[in-house]
Order: sequence, then C-alpha cells, then structure tokens
Amino acid sequence: MYYLVNKIIINLIPLLPKFFVKLFANKYVAGVKTSHALKIVSKLNNNGFSCTLDILGEHTADLEESDAITYKYIDILDKIKSNNLDCNISIKPSHIGSDIGSENFNQNIAKLIIKANKNNNFIRIDMEDNKLTDLSINTYKNNNKYKNSLGIVLQAYLMRTKDDLNSLEENSNIRLCKGIYNEDKSIAIKDPQSINTNYIELLKIAFNKDIYVGIATHDKKLIDKALEIIKKNGIDKNKFEFQMLYGVPMDKTTEYLLKNNYKIRIYVPYGRNWYDYSIRRIKENPNISKYIIQNLFK
Ligand code: FDA
Repeated sequence: MYYLVNKIIINLIPLLPKFFVKLFANKYVAGVKTSHALKIVSKLNNNGFSCTLDILGEHTADLEESDAITYKYIDILDKIKSNNLDCNISIKPSHIGSDIGSENFNQNIAKLIIKANKNNNFIRIDMEDNKLTDLSINTYKNNNKYKNSLGIVLQAYLMRTKDDLNSLEENSNIRLCKGIYNEDKSIAIKDPQSINTNYIELLKIAFNKDIYVGIATHDKKLIDKALEIIKKNGIDKNKFEFQMLYGVPMDKTTEYLLKNNYKIRIYVPYGRNWYDYSIRRIKENPNISKYIIQNLFK
C-alpha cells in the first residue's frame, strides 16, 4: 500500500507547480549562489566531510553559455583554493558543451583540467546517459598526463562497465555508482539485486587493479559489503573514499564511517537549474510520500 502511494506521488510530481516542488527539493540542493554553496561546503568540512561541488545543469545548447559555465567552474576552483576548502568539482560533459560539438567540449574540459592541476585540485567527470559514456571515458583516457587531477564515473547498471573498467590503467580514479538514467534493458541491468551483485564484482576488480574508488552509494548492504572486502584485503584508506549526496539523510552507517576515520565526500549540487536534479533525488527517496506530506504541513 505504502509502495503504491509512493508510486502515485512520484508520477504526480512532474505535474506539481515548481514553487511547490521547491519546498521539498531544497534539502537536496545547496542554494542558488556560489557563496551559499561554499558556506555549506565549509560547514561540511568542519563536520569532517570532504566535498565535491557541482553546478546544476545539463545539455547546454548555447556556445556562450557553455563557456560561461566553464569560467564559473574555474572561478570556483580559485575560491576553493583561497578559502582553503577540502573540495573538488564534478562536471557533466553536456553542461560544458558536448552537445554543441566536440571541439567546444574538448577546449572547455582542457581549461578546467589545466586549472585543477595548477591548483592541485581534482575534477570528476560525472557520467550521464549512455550517449555520453564513450565520450566521458575517452576524455579521461586522452588526458592521462593529468591523471592526478582527473577522474571518471562508472555505472554498475551498464552491461559494458566491466569491459570499461578492465580497459582502464592501474592507478586510475573512478567513482562507482549504481546509475541513475532510465537506460534500455538491452544495455542495462534492471534488477536491483543484480545491479548490486555487479557493483560488488566491479569494486573487487577495481581494488585488484589498484584503482582509486569513490564508493558512491547510500545502500547499507553495499557499504557493509564494501567494508568487508576492504578489511579482508587490507585495502589502504588512501585507495578509496565513500561518497554520498547532499541532503540524503545520514544514518548509523555514516556515523560509523566517520567515527572510524573513513573518508566521506559529499556531492554538493547548487545553482539555478535545480529542478531536474531534485526530481531525480525525490524519486529515489523511499519515504517520499511521508516526506512530502510532512513538508506540506510545515
Ligand atoms: P538506493 O537508491 O538503493 O538507495 C539506498 C538507500 O539510500 C535507500 O533505501 C534510502 O534509504 C537512501 N536513499 C537513496 N537516495 C535517497 C534520497 N534521494 N532521499 C532519501 N534517501 C535516499 N549516477 C549517475 O548515473 N552518474 C553519476 O555521475 C552519479 N554520481 C553520483 C555521485 C554520488 C556521490 C552518489 C552518491 C550518487 C551518484 N549517482 C550518479 C547516483 C547513483 O547512480 C544512484 O542513482 C543513487 O546514488 C541512488 O542509489 P544508491 O546507491 O544510493 O542506492
């Protein structure tokens, strides 16, 4: 019954007015302005978390806009440095021009990688839908000389991911997540349990290849299993970190990780394009109906 109510609410969300969605989307987004997001990063740092900042938005169609976003990220890299924050950045290729053309995208990502490298910082190329998988992975491989400043994301739901992972060099840097896009069953695993099984298999391969892994999940079963593998194989704490999304409630597992000095990085998205991202997060919240009703009466 509860599951059914959740499902109905999820289907209704896109029909709700934006101002109403904002009421309960707010918790997943660190405001609209960079200054606000940086304050949140600072607070998270003080509470023991590393961060990664993401300016919300995707599929930029305008050349000037994709350049402007690139410069905004460059500015953020400088602000992270001058404020001495423990924070890197996460970027979607389609936000900085991959839909416009490869030349535009390559120029923008090159500017960002060079800046991150100069500032001793790091860029994570977020993984979007399957149309961008090759581009993202190739961009990572082609910038091998900036290896220490660049990382990619692999999605456990894609059938190709094991091959992609095997094609990476030792000492690469990945974020491993389940995957959020609605991919076709011809290329993606749909059964949640099988996605988890694949996630763990991929994690083991990554550790065997001495690849640095951002273990990006809130799934307690996956985190427990990851800890078991880490402990059993004596994986050094500087070869992985846990990653979680801003706004997803912290629980006993998070407390345990913090207390035991495991690194946790919080993905902190912000900006005026909050709507699509928030909808994706709201849909993943298993308590969505309760949560919306609570906010309704606040
Ligand atoms: P799952 O969805 O099964 O959630 C496990 C439990 O976590 C739930 O039962 C619930 O308790 C809690 N939970 C999860 N989401 C919640 C929410 N929104 N509100 C409240 N509780 C929630 N995907 C992608 O395709 N490309 C990418 O680049 C990234 N990047 C990325 C970075 C980071 C740091 C994270 C954590 C995730 C991503 N993702 C992503 C998203 C990822 O693919 C996936 O969709 C979400 O993390 C949800 O999956 P979980 O692994 O958390 O499991």
